[in-house]
Amino acid sequence: MGDIKSSILETIGNTPMVNLSRLTKHYGVEGRLLAKLEHLNPSSSKKDRIALHMIEQAEKDGRLKPGMTVIEETSGNTGNGLALVCAVKGYKFIAAMSEGNSVERMKMMRGLGADLLLVPQLPESTKGFVSGADLQKVEEAAFKYAEENGAYLCNQFHNRENNDAHALTTAKEIWEQCDGSLSYFVDFAGTGGSFGGTAQGLKQYNPDIKCIVVEPAKACAYGPQGVTDPAHRIQGGGYAKKLDLIDDELVDGNMPVSDEEAIEFARALSSLEGIFCGFSAGANACAAIKLLQGEAKGKDVVILISDSGLKYLSTTLYE
Ligand SMILES: Cc1ncc(COP(=O)(O)O)c(C=O)c1O
Repeated sequence: MGDIKSSILETIGNTPMVNLSRLTKHYGVEGRLLAKLEHLNPSSSKKDRIALHMIEQAEKDGRLKPGMTVIEETSGNTGNGLALVCAVKGYKFIAAMSEGNSVERMKMMRGLGADLLLVPQLPESTKGFVSGADLQKVEEAAFKYAEENGAYLCNQFHNRENNDAHALTTAKEIWEQCDGSLSYFVDFAGTGGSFGGTAQGLKQYNPDIKCIVVEPAKACAYGPQGVTDPAHRIQGGGYAKKLDLIDDELVDGNMPVSDEEAIEFARALSSLEGIFCGFSAGANACAAIKLLQGEAKGKDVVILISDSGLKYLSTTLYE
């Protein structure tokens, strides 16, 4: 039977799940580490799921109408996902970004048809290192643009449709793909939408599934380790604060991971499993192996491969 999609949007989600038996063997742990290959989504990250869901929900209840512009504060994966969805659906998309973001991110956005609203870094910021204060300025610029121009702001850090996308799709797929055989879900949080939504969905299937937030080793908001240095290299999250999109009762614990560990495990995923991924997938794999060495020994642990290593070619991740 033929299978022709009506657009690339139908290729979002339903990603494969792989048993990382080479990795568990290499690290000598008992149990299964199961990885959902989110880097195989069309713009190479899990954020395609939320981009599609946020846009379609806004269309459904009339917040987004034909001819309107979509805007979002984003420097990376969500922007790529929204650019792709807006390209197919015919909306103009504006990515509000700091001038401190890398050139390849800007090029990918533009390639997917997005316009850029570039916000200068603060005078005291270091060029290329986007600080919390720089991000605050970008957020303000995006809000201002939306208000003045009647554009639709997706607002992924505070929009529960971010969670819903993962509760409805990621959690359901995980549950079905592992036939309900999983004891742990382990995820590095940025907005917290993936953790919050997937944990909520999985706990509805089985409330005994333990959900563990992965955090930068020196920037832990969900565990006793605390925040001693908020700067780290695990791109996409680890903002050293509690998140609106994560309900505290869904968190069964946290697992700190250092930059060096995240990099070691991203490289191991690539060279042992052929999974060419970013920093946060490495952090997830590292956290999972630590759990399999301890309280999760012999159990099934699920992680997300959040995005592709191709997004980090200008960094030292694979040097
Ligand atoms: C590479 C990467 N990993 C992890 C995350 C965190 O995902 P979430 O925002 O769903 O918590 C993000 C978010 O932007 C990301 O881009």
